[in-house]
Amino acid sequence: MMHLVYNQERLRIAVQKKGRLHEASMKYLSSRGLSFPQNGKSLIQSSESAEVDVLYLRDDDIPEYVSRGVADLGIVGENVLAERGVELPVVAKLGFGRCKLVIAVSKSSRIKEPADLDGKRIATSYPKLLGDFLRREGVEAEIVPISGSAEITVELDLADAVCDIVQTGATLEAHDLVPLFTVMESQAVLVESSERSMRKREFIKEVKIVL
Ligand code: PRP
Ligand code: ZN
Repeated sequence: MMHLVYNQERLRIAVQKKGRLHEASMKYLSSRGLSFPQNGKSLIQSSESAEVDVLYLRDDDIPEYVSRGVADLGIVGENVLAERGVELPVVAKLGFGRCKLVIAVSKSSRIKEPADLDGKRIATSYPKLLGDFLRREGVEAEIVPISGSAEITVELDLADAVCDIVQTGATLEAHDLVPLFTVMESQAVLVESSERSMRKREFIKEVKIVL
């Protein structure tokens, strides 16, 4: 097993380990000249071309790592930042990972407008954003908290509706669901910690990390 010795001079960039943003994030870094070896199971890898390490994390954890300065930069969806309620300086909007947080129901559902959600169960891994939306709409619904794969809950009768991310729409379609309302629109952003500002400014200029 390989262990990396922490070098304080190296910057750490947090990216999603797997999921919607993973590939696009790696492609973006490589377009900025930052490539990482594609080997092994390690959750941290060092760039061969720059003083940078990449951390592969659950996207939901990225705001925490960056706000605590454990990662200097992070690539994460605005949806995740908003759900976590973590305010971080945005270096750039990256233009990929565009998606919507929607409330979706089965094609045959009688739910047609927000008021129809009254007394219904909505499964989501976005309880904060959904709760805010329901309050704004004056709707009392039961939030069923789950940590992923929300799309399966309606056919299994765990919920009457889901509140989840749609990018291509393929996952909703596969479960016979249709989006009804948009709770939030989102894209990937590059965020930074409030520490090591000088070092980061140099880096951002040097590798032109911002397009
Ligand atoms: C979201 C969501 C769906 C998928 C939808 O997951 O939970 O699984 O994207 O994409 P589609 O419309 O293109 O089919 P995400 O990658 O955000 O990760 P998560 O598992 O961390 O929620
Ligand atoms: Zn996630």
